[in-house]
Amino acid sequence: MNTPSKSQTKPKILVARAIFPEALAKLQESFEVRSNQADQVFTPTELQAELAKVVGALVAGSERIDANALSQAKDLKVVANISVGYNNFDVPAMTAAGVMATNTPDVLTDTTADFGFALLMATARRITESEHWVRAGEWKKWSIVNNPLGMDIHHSTIGIIGMGRIGQGIAKRALGFGMNVIYHNRSRLSEADEKACAAKYVSKEELLRTADHVVLVLPYTPENHHTIAAKEIALMKPTATLINIARGGIVDDLALAQALKDKVIFAAGLDVFEGEPTVHPELLKLSNVVLAPHIASSTEKTRRAMVDLAIENLRQAIDGKKPPSLINTEVFKA
Ligand code: DGY
Repeated sequence: MNTPSKSQTKPKILVARAIFPEALAKLQESFEVRSNQADQVFTPTELQAELAKVVGALVAGSERIDANALSQAKDLKVVANISVGYNNFDVPAMTAAGVMATNTPDVLTDTTADFGFALLMATARRITESEHWVRAGEWKKWSIVNNPLGMDIHHSTIGIIGMGRIGQGIAKRALGFGMNVIYHNRSRLSEADEKACAAKYVSKEELLRTADHVVLVLPYTPENHHTIAAKEIALMKPTATLINIARGGIVDDLALAQALKDKVIFAAGLDVFEGEPTVHPELLKLSNVVLAPHIASSTEKTRRAMVDLAIENLRQAIDGKKPPSLINTEVFKA
């Protein structure tokens, strides 16, 4: 960063959600920071007014950056998402406004893949349900056949929909469990990448019909809305599990709740929800679903790395340099 001299005024930036205090203090050395450590999510009107005052902003998925949010933001150069997914960005609107959009890829891949696997294990082996069983004093009812009986992970077939960096990370973990890996993706992986994951490309229908565990890791786009709805769930095995660590809206949550209630599939593990942080009330009633509050990337080390990368993106853009994870590259003029 070209740190401003004492006589220069510092560029104004917005930090729209609470971040680690040390990261904030570091930003304050170079910028005049409008922070939100109270972590009250801005209304669209508040966000629009805040963006009008700054040259750069650090945001998260809770901030929708669209034409309306940008309409008063005459000096804004960059919005840096503290997230790899950027479905909260209307990228064409940002590009039209000449605003650079950045995200935080790579730094969270392994942590998120770990969590995908953890959620799969918890769901198939009924870990959270078992814990409730113990806490409710049900253990005394134990018998060979009457306790939470799960589904095997080892040597089963995992079907991954969305085979980007995180999907491939999950596939590699699955190999350690002797699993058969099949995948579906918008485009097929290179031969070398398929080999590294020992993964076989199949149609979405074949994947749904044959997988014992279906894991969703695809980005949310309007085309991917309800990729998994009643029709798709009906193709799955009654013994199958469905894991969503992608985005709310990829799964039709009401249809899933109905299917879980009717035992169309065995169980589901969900880290993301339509309309989160609200969870569909029908899902909350069920025991064969593991619910997590969008924590796939949530380890101390990784969240710090995400914040650091977002700050680096912001600094570079404000300094007139190309940010390391620029999404709309056409906006950058050297
Ligand atoms: C991401 O980075 O997209 C994650 O979902 C946030 O935890």
